[in-house]
This record gives sequence, structure tokens and C-alpha cells, in this order.
Amino acid sequence: MSIPASDIDLHSDDVLNDPYPVYQTLRDLSSAVYLPRVEAYFIGRYVDVRRALEDWQTFSSAKGIGLNPVINEAWIEALICQDPPVHTDRRVLMDEALGPRSIRPLEETIDARAQELAGRLLAMGQFDGVADCALDLPINVVMDLIGWPEDVRPGLLSLADGSWNAAGPEGARMQSGLNQLGQMMALIAEIYDNNRVIPGGFAAQLVDAAHEGVISRESAIGMLAGYVVAAFETTISAMASGLWLFSQFPDEWQKLRNKPALLTLLANEVVRMEAPIQNFARYVAQDAVLSDGSRIPAGSWAIVSYGSANRDERTFAEPDRFLLDRKERINVGFGAGPHRCAGQGLARMELRAVFGALLERVERFELTGVPERNLNNITRAFRSLPLRVVGGG
Ligand code: HEM
Repeated sequence: MSIPASDIDLHSDDVLNDPYPVYQTLRDLSSAVYLPRVEAYFIGRYVDVRRALEDWQTFSSAKGIGLNPVINEAWIEALICQDPPVHTDRRVLMDEALGPRSIRPLEETIDARAQELAGRLLAMGQFDGVADCALDLPINVVMDLIGWPEDVRPGLLSLADGSWNAAGPEGARMQSGLNQLGQMMALIAEIYDNNRVIPGGFAAQLVDAAHEGVISRESAIGMLAGYVVAAFETTISAMASGLWLFSQFPDEWQKLRNKPALLTLLANEVVRMEAPIQNFARYVAQDAVLSDGSRIPAGSWAIVSYGSANRDERTFAEPDRFLLDRKERINVGFGAGPHRCAGQGLARMELRAVFGALLERVERFELTGVPERNLNNITRAFRSLPLRVVGGG
């Protein structure tokens, strides 16, 4: 079956502001649509995205997951850019550091910090959902946990956020992302070389592994960068999206207040509606036949769209509706297959803690102004989110 082409610019400001109508157009055209602007095939239907994420032999990460050769070369050591068996071995280290046994002891600290945060937001009444809420746990708890020295934290966060742009196609946004990525790597190398990570954290485990010769200095620095890039902007995005979604769907907040057990489903539905990572690329290592018979030739690049798959009406009833207790519990907001998110336990814990603490005290969330998006080639996030909370605890 021949594959249609589209000259849609996925990375224009308009599309980044609201990508969902464009995703739908592309999904409706075919399982795969060729985008000449980025010289890649867009895969947007849930079944095809899921299969691509699981079938690493066909949809490889080993040549990179960005849309330009510079980032793919720069990220060559990142865990996310390995295929099995190299990936399998390195992933063990990540799973140990981020698995249930490691993160369970954090729950108390995270819950306590979330309670404080909820109290502060209530006292403020009006606040910015990003600066005053979404950043709090990642900066104050997760940075501790990973073991970043205090003095580098704000800088590291802003460099990490910008550096996602580097994975987009050639252009001004990508160039500025590369610049920020370069600065971030230099900063991490400096922290590594001067042994400045806080003892006992995840970062220290990787540094020890490098000193013991289990992994090289370059791998350790690459993996440390992976931690920064993967752990913060994603969770911050999901936290802010959650606040925004509840302001748009107040009945869901009431539903949650009436049935707090639904908190366990919250992270899933937030990342389904507003996937913090919208798109990554894969190298097509052998001819790929998709669910409608479309054949992507070996040697091409494909975009796997988490953001589109999660809104696919072929899989999700009323896909644009935020519905905590929806029947379909599957989605690819945290990925799938060998690269499924290694930190999702922690991200879920943070979201549960913050919304759980707010649940007891907030009757509703209201926007007090127009939210501003932080346009990015890869992530979906807000720059500011003016909110008011109405108490009711
Ligand atoms: C709501 C928050 C988060 C979302 C939505 C998210 C999403 C994702 C997605 C979609 C992938 C798959 C990438 C691929 O298919 O190539 C991924 C991988 C990954 N995530 Fe997350 N993530 C989140 C939070 C975190 C946190 C808090 C950490 C670490 C503390 C983390 C660490 C990682 C790592 C290390 C990988 C790479 C795994 C591998 O290549 O095997 N993530 N994440």
C-alpha cells in the first residue's frame, strides 16, 4: 500500500501550541504518513505506535531518537539510544536505582513535602501552576534523591528543559537546544570530574559504577545527563497539565474527591491526555508493515507519536475527554517496550502525593488568566499557568 505524504510542519508554533487536530488529520490519512519537511514517516495510530515501541529490531533506537544527526551523535551514550543487548545491561542499573525497593522509602518525604506545598498554595489562593506548584517536588525532593549539588539545580533544570529542543529537526529551536545541551553536558562533566555529586544518591551509584570500571566515564556522564533530561521536565509537565486539566474538567475533580481511590489512575490519564513527551524518532532497520498494510522501507526514519497514539479514537472512546475512570487503561504516555519509562514509579508517586494533598483541601481550580505554553520540539509544557484554588476542606 502506498504511503501518503503531507507537508504539515509538525514543529511550527501553531502546531506545537495545539498538535491534536493535526495528529488526527495524519492518523486519518494512513497508519504512516511521509513528512518531507523532516524526511520521516509519522506513525500516529495507537496500535502502530505501540508495536513500533515494542519491536526494537525493526524500529531501532541505536542510531538515535532525535530528528537530526547532531543530537543523535551527541546522545550516542544515552540509555535511551541503545538497543538490546547493550540496553538490557545498562537498564539493570537504572531499574535498581528507580525500582519499587529504592523509591518506597521516599514516599514519606514526598508526602510530607506535598502536604506542605498544598498548605502553601491554599494560603496563597492565587498562584502559578508551574513556578509555585509543579517545580516544587522535582527541585526539592528529586534533585536530592539523584544527588545534584544545590548550587547547580536551577541552572541544570533550565538547561535540561531547553535541551529537549535539540532533538527536533534542523532550525532555530533545534540550534538553541543544542547550545543548551552543550552547556548542560559541560556542567555534568564538571560535576563528575570534581566528584561533586551528593553521596548516597542515584548519581553517586553511577559514578561508583564508573570508578569500578563497570561503565566508562563517558557512559556515566551520558547516563547522568539522561537522568536530568528524563526526570524533570516530564514530571513538571505532567504536574502542570494535571492542574490545567482539572480546571477544564471540574467534574473529574469532584469525582476524585468523592472517590480518592481513583488517585492511582490519575498519572495515567494525565499523560494520556497531555503526553509530556509528544514524539521521538526511530530508525527503521528493516522493512516495516503497519496495521493498514503501509510499508515503511528499511533505512528510513519514523516518528513515533505518543501524543497522537494516546488520542486515537480507534482505541480510546471520547479521546479528548479527561476521564479518570475510563475503561481503557492502556496508553503510551510512559512509553512501552524495552525503553518504557524507567522513572514512572517515581513520577506516579509525585503526582499522587501532590494531588492527594490538594484533594483534601481544594474544592476547585480556576484559571485566572490565559496559560502560556513553553513551546518545545519534543515536550508539551506550560511556561505559566495562572490559577486560583477555592478551598473546601
Ligand atoms: C510524568 C513523567 C514522565 C513521563 C511522561 C515519562 C515518559 C517517558 C517515555 C515516553 C519514555 C520512553 C522513551 C522511548 O520510547 O524511547 C521514557 C523513558 C525514560 N524515562 Fe521517563 N518519563 C517521566 C518521568 C521520568 C522520571 C521521573 C525519570 C527518572 C527519575 C525518568 C527516567 C526515564 C529513563 C531513564 C528513560 C529511558 C529508559 C530506557 O531507555 O530504557 N522518567 N520516559
